[in-house]
Amino acid sequence: MTSSQLIDIQGLATDFIDHILYRAVELAKGSEPMTTNHTVANLFFEPSTRTRVSFEIAATRLGLSIINLDGLRSSMTKGESLLDTLATLRAMGVEMAVLRHGQTGICHEISHAMPIGMGLVNAGDGCGHHPTQALLDVATMIEQGISLSDSKVVIVGDLRHSRVARSNVALLKRLNVGEVALAGPPAFMPKDLFGHTDLVVYDQLEAALEEANIVMMLRIQKERLEPETLVDWADYHEQWGLSQSKLALARPDCRVMHPGPINRGVELTAEVADGAQSLILDQVRMSVFTRMAIFEALLA
Ligand code: NCD
Repeated sequence: MTSSQLIDIQGLATDFIDHILYRAVELAKGSEPMTTNHTVANLFFEPSTRTRVSFEIAATRLGLSIINLDGLRSSMTKGESLLDTLATLRAMGVEMAVLRHGQTGICHEISHAMPIGMGLVNAGDGCGHHPTQALLDVATMIEQGISLSDSKVVIVGDLRHSRVARSNVALLKRLNVGEVALAGPPAFMPKDLFGHTDLVVYDQLEAALEEANIVMMLRIQKERLEPETLVDWADYHEQWGLSQSKLALARPDCRVMHPGPINRGVELTAEVADGAQSLILDQVRMSVFTRMAIFEALLA
């Protein structure tokens, strides 16, 4: 990974991570952003609301020019390769590509062959990584004054297909969070536990919630399930959905997070999503500041 690439948490120096988290919180407090006149491109080959728009707003606040390429309507539908598309954008002056793609590992693959002078930010690759989401999640915790070393963070749901969970586990472990736990049905557990041997794994939500002060709920990645997977949504909600009464089993100050989009009545109830313990919209708010901090650092 070169200095203008952000592909996964593992490839980031701890100093860089600390800087982004600090800077995101400073920007949220009203610190003046560094403005530059670079040109960046959002290339999204999967549906997205908050990730795409927050990169766009972040760029605009920094005075960057940003173009949005709807990957699903680009010339790639005519057979052009992704690298040829990137070279085309580079020839027009684009200096950074923010890529969301359904293919796991695509950012790693192209990172060695990027056009000269073009940076790359992974905005989510298949079941791979989503490093900017993890950074904004932790920036949200820090902004809320949550002590990471005293935290028990439980990540719940379809972990196997979740790039958000993989990146969060990597980041939370890097930052020495007190305890990182996973909870979900066996069919949704990642076989390799994201490469960590010291994660606590629960097969019951109630037990996982004990002593937790952060619970991160995940959407079932319907679009990534193996075709034979059958999900009984009512049954899933019963066992794994977060309700106010289950949340009461956690620490009284437990906060609820979710990267969105949320499915009310599946992974959490509307009452929990909209309740006083929910940080869901704070995550969205911090997504802009975190992505501003990322652009500032990569384009500096
Ligand atoms: C997540 C994603 O796309 O990976 N959402 C997001 O980026 N805010 C999670 C999801 O789609 O469930």
